[in-house]
Amino acid sequence: MTDLSGRVALVTGGTRGIGLATVRALVDAGATVVLTGRDEARAKEAASAAGAAAGLALDVTDAKAVSSLVRGVAKEHGKLDVVVANAGIMEDALLGMIREELVDTTLSTNVAGTLHTVQAAARAMMRKKTGSIVVLASIVGEYGSAGQTVYAASKAAVANIARSAAKELGRSGIRVNAVAPGVIETDLTAGLSEDAKAENAGKTPLGRLGRAEDVANAIRFLVGDEASFITGQVLGVDGGLVL
Ligand SMILES: NC(=O)c1ccc[n+]([C@@H]2O[C@H](COP(=O)([O-])OP(=O)(O)OC[C@H]3O[C@@H](n4cnc5c(N)ncnc54)[C@H](OP(=O)(O)O)[C@@H]3O)[C@@H](O)[C@H]2O)c1
Repeated sequence: MTDLSGRVALVTGGTRGIGLATVRALVDAGATVVLTGRDEARAKEAASAAGAAAGLALDVTDAKAVSSLVRGVAKEHGKLDVVVANAGIMEDALLGMIREELVDTTLSTNVAGTLHTVQAAARAMMRKKTGSIVVLASIVGEYGSAGQTVYAASKAAVANIARSAAKELGRSGIRVNAVAPGVIETDLTAGLSEDAKAENAGKTPLGRLGRAEDVANAIRFLVGDEASFITGQVLGVDGGLVL
């Protein structure tokens, strides 16, 4: 298993779902992990349940808050080795039903929030000339999905944040990759009907929906030394759904 002993990691949106599973996976690998969520009490509770070093309040749409929190974590722990920009939202709307507010909240959380996190991570890692960043894309961002135009656009942008940042930061020893999960059973997909879940599981060669741990394990691999020559990639974690 990937060994992250002595590494300091930050996971945004670590209070539940894929983020919380990632926190647990990084803690299991020996890392000191700080997680964030929008509500301080919920973040502290999740941190204590997962064995993380701290749970802090952060809204990733606030660029200044992201910058200051990332700087603070790096200062307190002397460095920052790993950042997982996981915080994200998904709301479906058919083209004719898309409200301006949905566009604003989706793009400010998924695109600007990821960008703020990657920027702040790069600044913190630059001094030590080493680090690894993972962002959360989606198969929907790679292939599109009816009723998810706004979300799909936001996740295509996230994948290209990874590719572009990887090109820019490679010479500084910083790797940037994305994972593109399929349908993973978390709060985000809890609204899917049982029929839709069964249909997606049926279309998946591995015959089931994904678990948060499936994605967390891929993230743990990407941030560790076993992936030291991998950067700018978008790794599908979808059971073969889009083959
Ligand atoms: N589940 C899937 O099938 C799937 C598929 C592809 C990609 N993804 C992506 O994977 C990531 C995690 O998804 P999930 O399924 O684990 O979702 P989830 O269970 O809904 O959890 C979302 C997390 O993001 C945090 N968050 C949301 N908005 C935030 C904001 N403005 N600032 C800071 N934190 C915020 C939430 O924290 P609080 O609510 O505590 O603030 C929560 O911890 C997302 O980027 C999602 O788009 C998921």
